[in-house]
Parts: sequence; C-alpha cells; structure tokens
Amino acid sequence: MTFVSGPVTVEVPASSANLGPGFDALGLALDLYDTVTAETIDSGLEIRVTGEGSNGVPLDETHLVVQAMHATFDLIGGRPDGLRLTCTNVIPHGRGLGSSSAAIVGGIVLARALVEGGGLLLDDASAFQLAVDIEGHPDNVAAALFGGLTIAWTDGAAAEVERLQTEVDVTVFVPPAAVSTEKARGLLPELVPHRDAAANAGRAALLIAALTVAPNRLISATEDWLHQSYRAEAMPDSYKLLRQLRVEGIPAIISGAGPTVLAFARGVADHAPEGWAVHELTVDQPGARVI
Ligand code: HSE
Repeated sequence: MTFVSGPVTVEVPASSANLGPGFDALGLALDLYDTVTAETIDSGLEIRVTGEGSNGVPLDETHLVVQAMHATFDLIGGRPDGLRLTCTNVIPHGRGLGSSSAAIVGGIVLARALVEGGGLLLDDASAFQLAVDIEGHPDNVAAALFGGLTIAWTDGAAAEVERLQTEVDVTVFVPPAAVSTEKARGLLPELVPHRDAAANAGRAALLIAALTVAPNRLISATEDWLHQSYRAEAMPDSYKLLRQLRVEGIPAIISGAGPTVLAFARGVADHAPEGWAVHELTVDQPGARVI
C-alpha cells in the first residue's frame, strides 16, 4: 500500500441526533466543525490537540481519531510506520452534539485520504459501516459523514442510511456541564406503552415532512415519548429550558443524548440561561470532507 506524501486535512461537522421523536434514527449535520490533519512519518505516533476536550483526551493509541484511523488502515491494507496527527476541536464534548462521531468519521475519512486510491478501497457505504461498528449506533455518524438530514438504521449488523435535503435554521443552547451518553441511555426504560410508541411513530413520520416540506408542523413534529422525559433527571435545567421554549411555541428538542437544547428557530438566543453557550447554526450539506 502507498501513502500520499505530506499532510491531509479533513473537516467534519457536529451533528444532532434524535431531533425529538427520531430516537437512534435521525441525524442533522450542523455547521460547527472539528478539523483533523495527519501525515505519515517514519515512526511513532505524535498527537496534538487544541480546543474542546484538549485537557481530557488521551494522547496515545486510545485517542478516538487514532483508533478510527487504525481500524481504517487495517481494513484497507495496513498501517503506516508512523503518524503525526493534529486535532483542532470546536464541537463541545459530552453535550449531545456528536463529538465522538465526528472523531470517528474524521479519523476514517482522514485515513482513507492518506492512502493512494483510498476512495476506491473504501467507498462511502463501507466507511459508514465501519463508523457504525465503532460507534455502536448509526444516527450521529450518518449525519457527520453524509451531511444534511439523515435517517439511519441497522438491518442485523448492516448499517443503512437515507440522506435528505433540509435547510432549517437552528439555535443550540449548550450547558456548561457534560452528561455522558452512557448515563443518559441508562435512564431509558426497557419497555414503553403501546400508545406512546404509536404516538412517537406518527410524529417521527411528520418530522420528516416538517423538515423538508412543511415547516409549520415543526412544533407538533418534535414531540417525543421515548427518551426526553426519561432523561430529564440527568439534565433538569435542559429539560426546563426545553419546556419553556415549547410553551412559547418554539420547536425545541434535546440534542442527541443531551444536555444541549436545540431549537429550530432564530432570534431566540436570549432564552439562554446564564453561563450557557449559544450558537446560531445552519445545516451542513456536504458532511465530512477533505479540504
Ligand atoms: N441516539 C443516541 C441517544 C444519540 O440518544 O442515546 C447519542 O449518541
């Protein structure tokens, strides 16, 4: 296998999963980007991280971008002798904005681009499958890789995705403290009432219409019965803001496993509690890309 000479840089978007009723299925890519740059070197592993999470991430083979790169190299023919990696992180960690999916997808796209003819050895469908295998569920990685609005699912072990176009405006309210996805998933019940599942299915279907052709339906379409209320105890301030926004008729959801609150609206930043970060964002269309 031959590696390209010199550094390669990949930009990968943040993503919001679930979007209310689309639990573990829907993803939306957002124009907030992590940037990863790598080049092959004679030996060793050099990692430099700046920005979000730079004080907490490991600087060795367990770094998530490196894990994804190694998994990709192993799949398409072998690892380089050495690697120099620089990560410039903008996506907040542990806030439900897809930072781990961005790391995984960024690593895969970066490793593929470092291999001569890598695009032929690993097409986007295979890159997506690898990302899902590493992440464990497909919603954030689908949006991070393909951009836009994604519906993702698994058929047995096989990951599938349908990408749709949407241009909705978004405001995200990011609280100062993280909540782990593991903790948030641990709060979900084993079973839900049939009436809740039925209501949720209807709103998930409506949400696709609302995000593509019928934006006036967004407030009804973002109602959820499967996860947000169960997780409220882990993120009470987020849940309170969510209810406040919705009472005012602003379509709002918990982004992914939380605790970020996402509103499908502009001009609502003044609702942010003190100490929270606010970003007015648009939908990223291309997904992860070599720049
Ligand atoms: N769908 C996932 C969840 C997203 O809500 O747990 C977080 O990775």
